[in-house]
Amino acid sequence: DTLLNLAYQMPKTELHLHIEGTFEPELMFAIAKRNNIPFKYDSVDALKSAYQFENLQDFLDLYYQGMSVLLKEQDFYDLTMAYLKRVHQDNVVHVEIFFDPQGHTSRGISFETQINGIYRALKDGEQQLGITFKLIMSFLRHLSESSAFETLELAKPYLDWIDGVGLDSSEVGHPPQKFANVFAECKKLGLSITAHAGEEGPPEYVWEAIETIQVNRIDHGNRALEESDLIAEIKKRGLTLTVCPLSNLKLCVVPNMDNHPIKSMLKFGLNATVNSDDPAYFGGYINDNYKALIKDSGISKNELYTLACNSFNGSWLSSEQKSRHL
Ligand code: ADE
Ligand code: ZN
Repeated sequence: DTLLNLAYQMPKTELHLHIEGTFEPELMFAIAKRNNIPFKYDSVDALKSAYQFENLQDFLDLYYQGMSVLLKEQDFYDLTMAYLKRVHQDNVVHVEIFFDPQGHTSRGISFETQINGIYRALKDGEQQLGITFKLIMSFLRHLSESSAFETLELAKPYLDWIDGVGLDSSEVGHPPQKFANVFAECKKLGLSITAHAGEEGPPEYVWEAIETIQVNRIDHGNRALEESDLIAEIKKRGLTLTVCPLSNLKLCVVPNMDNHPIKSMLKFGLNATVNSDDPAYFGGYINDNYKALIKDSGISKNELYTLACNSFNGSWLSSEQKSRHL
């Protein structure tokens, strides 16, 4: 099928990817075993059969449980390298990945252990596979702003390795406003800013991400489509939306793929992109997300080009770095 071939072969970037969400059950079992951690599920299949979610929180509960077997620097390295090797097959040439430091510091794993493993894999991936990268530290929004400030302190010795900050985890009840002060500090430090908004949360949260947090990008943004003023504002500012089709389906953010809102976003002239979010949990990497859109939502050849172009334009690469990839 020509559209599928085009989608698979286009060079592309991935801008919305939680490295802990790439933890495949096979690797999870192997790492649990070598770390002598007893595991609640007795087989890969038993674990996989638990991957049925009614909402974001159902998923998050398993996501935090899965990442809890990561103890050593080598564990973070292996996780990250496995992801890079996998998306190299999908013709991904640049990645901007999130990690959730508080998901690990809360279990006694030092910030240094996490970032050393992740960063070393990213550097090796750049050398061995030619995949360039940006690293985004994400704050967990179900925790307090003071916990985010503590995390920022831990990150300060590593700011040369960290390009931006994000906001993820349970959205409803935890508006961007809650983190206004810590993001203001991040901005002063010269970090780029993005935030999950409008995945389950209301359009109001997208407004706050834009006006209060002054994001450079919006993760998901689906519910922005509920307000025409908001659509106009996103368009006026040229903000990129990092959309995750299979994630939306698995977390019941959309009822099916036929009318996925990414089509409307493109029709409104918004800079939408395709991303995999947590591919090990949602049943597909980036090309699988393109495939689902082609199969079920009738996306056109021109739209595919636009999506791939948007993935470069919405990245935090310099124009010189971009042109080296194209
Ligand atoms: N953490 C990992 N994946 C997430 C998502 N889709 N939304 C919010 N937090 C997340
Ligand atoms: Zn996400």
